[in-house]
Amino acid sequence: MKYKILEIIAEGNMAIIYKIKIKDNIYALRKEQILKKDVKLFKNNNKEITHNLLDRKIWRSIYFATTMNIYDNYFMKLYKYKIISNCDFIHTYRYTTEYIDKLAKSKYCIESIYDLKESCLHDIIYTIPDNKIYSFIIQIRYALYLMSKHGFYHQDIHYRNICYKKTHIEFLYLPEFKLNIPTFGYIYSIIDYDDIYSDKFKLTKSEKKLTYDQLQYKYNSPCLRLLLCLYPGLPHSEGSQCDNKFKPSYNDQITFLNNTNEIYILKKMFPNVTGDYLLDLIKIFYPLKYLESIGINKNHRLYDQFIIKRIDVIDAYYYVYNIQNVELLLLFFLKKIYII
Ligand SMILES: Nc1ncnc2c1ncn2[C@@H]1O[C@H](COP(=O)(O)OP(=O)(O)O)[C@@H](O)[C@H]1O
Ligand SMILES: [Mg+2]
Repeated sequence: MKYKILEIIAEGNMAIIYKIKIKDNIYALRKEQILKKDVKLFKNNNKEITHNLLDRKIWRSIYFATTMNIYDNYFMKLYKYKIISNCDFIHTYRYTTEYIDKLAKSKYCIESIYDLKESCLHDIIYTIPDNKIYSFIIQIRYALYLMSKHGFYHQDIHYRNICYKKTHIEFLYLPEFKLNIPTFGYIYSIIDYDDIYSDKFKLTKSEKKLTYDQLQYKYNSPCLRLLLCLYPGLPHSEGSQCDNKFKPSYNDQITFLNNTNEIYILKKMFPNVTGDYLLDLIKIFYPLKYLESIGINKNHRLYDQFIIKRIDVIDAYYYVYNIQNVELLLLFFLKKIYII
């Protein structure tokens, strides 16, 4: 593959992402190290991505990308990928695990060429007008529906993993629902295929140990996480980005929340919900209580930023109550576009 690197877009957790040029077109190139084991498996499988490979992270993401390539608007199209042996590239990993230590020593890497998005939601979420927000909710809820239709669940939906491209196309047609959705000049798509889950995957040892709690979370959580993108100010990774030195431990946070009326009400409203899913509901319905649970109050210098949200509480309720009723949700938010 002959290409010219134009710039680095991002140094991700596992890969570096470049903007590249091939002839007159530009793309995103993802370069990441892979293990010899992954290469061997691929070769032994006649370079086809079949079920045998689907307990391996890299092959899962390639499998996902190729399956969803038919919906190029809502995902990032994968054009090509190539394994390189004797690769002199060593990624700068942000943390270490046994797996990452092995990767860092590997001489194999993979280069994948994807559709280039203009930027991601974090760039526009604070300023995007309300009607565009509704178009965003519809487009990404529809993308999640397409994923679930193929048995896939994205475990890492947040506003840096949803990107956009500007467009002159005025409407997107959703054939399953016979709906035309105004784009307002933006087509949104889901990126970052590092953490896709599917019932079709051969489960790894640790995945086999998943509790009911975590599984329940997997099926509904991508949709709930989409809603959380509309609370862009909240420190999502439990305080790590919020410059809060006195952050209580996760257990203390949960003990604190368990003694509140807010949790009592949420448990009454959503009786089957537990664990992280419940924590996400606190963020959505009681963001101030959530901030309090991680030790943030009105005196914090970033307080005004933390409380910004881009959705009305009534709309949020409607969304959560009907979280799996795609058609109802799409119609609801489409109506909102025209009422504004
Ligand atoms: N196809 C793409 N087009 C434009 N930007 C991209 C693309 N893929 C990734 N990026 C940018 O790189 C960042 C990191 O990539 P990502 O796949 O999310 O890796 P990580 O696992 O580290 O989050 C994204 O948040 C986005 O800003
Ligand atoms: Mg990401």
